Amino acid sequence: METTQQDAEKLAAAKAAVKLVKDGDIVGLGTGSTASFAIKELGRMVQGGLRIKAAASSINTEELAKSFGIEILPLGELSSIDISIDGADEFTESLDLIKGGGGALFREKIMASLSKKSIIVTDASKKVKKLGAFNVPVEVVPLAYQYVFDQLSKLGGKGVKRLKNNEVFVTDNGNFIIDADFGLINEPQKLSFDLNEIDGLLAHGLFINLTSKVIMSTRDQLIVFD
Ligand code: 5RP
Repeated sequence: METTQQDAEKLAAAKAAVKLVKDGDIVGLGTGSTASFAIKELGRMVQGGLRIKAAASSINTEELAKSFGIEILPLGELSSIDISIDGADEFTESLDLIKGGGGALFREKIMASLSKKSIIVTDASKKVKKLGAFNVPVEVVPLAYQYVFDQLSKLGGKGVKRLKNNEVFVTDNGNFIIDADFGLINEPQKLSFDLNEIDGLLAHGLFINLTSKVIMSTRDQLIVFD
């Protein structure tokens, strides 16, 4: 798929999602190219008079939102978010996701957990029958890197330390990412539980039971999964 068509789909999904935001809402802002389309749309709505406050799932997102005049609240001080809008790397019809392609999975997971409504926006390429063609990102505290890497291997995950521009990728939280290939995942919830048991593993990119709705745009229609 050429980039422009994919971008058109991302924009269409983002435009549909921002219609769900109400005046006075606290809005969780996701990370990545699709979420950025939604943030820009929300920014225009704010400039047109919509009153919202927002929480950001990454430093990049915070900067983008502020550039549109969106007021940002510290994620760590919120007990609840009315609605969040984020992207995904893969999703299934049962609303299980893999996220973290942009490395923001930990804050994104906290944001989704706080959200009354968690809306995922995607283009048509993100829908899969089974999760796992996209490697599962795992955020690991540097001190525990080798330990976590070995524990992932025991669970069948072939890990690769994420690099960016030939340097080790460091998250907004000062940690590393291991991208773990588990093959196609038959039991995502079980794998999620198993990963949660590993000390030193801050968060993983399997988002199970955290999504209210996926709005996916194809070339010519919007499809909602809920
Ligand atoms: C960032 C994410 C993103 O939402 C995910 O990688 C999708 O990004 P994009 O919309 O650019 O395809 O999880 O950590």
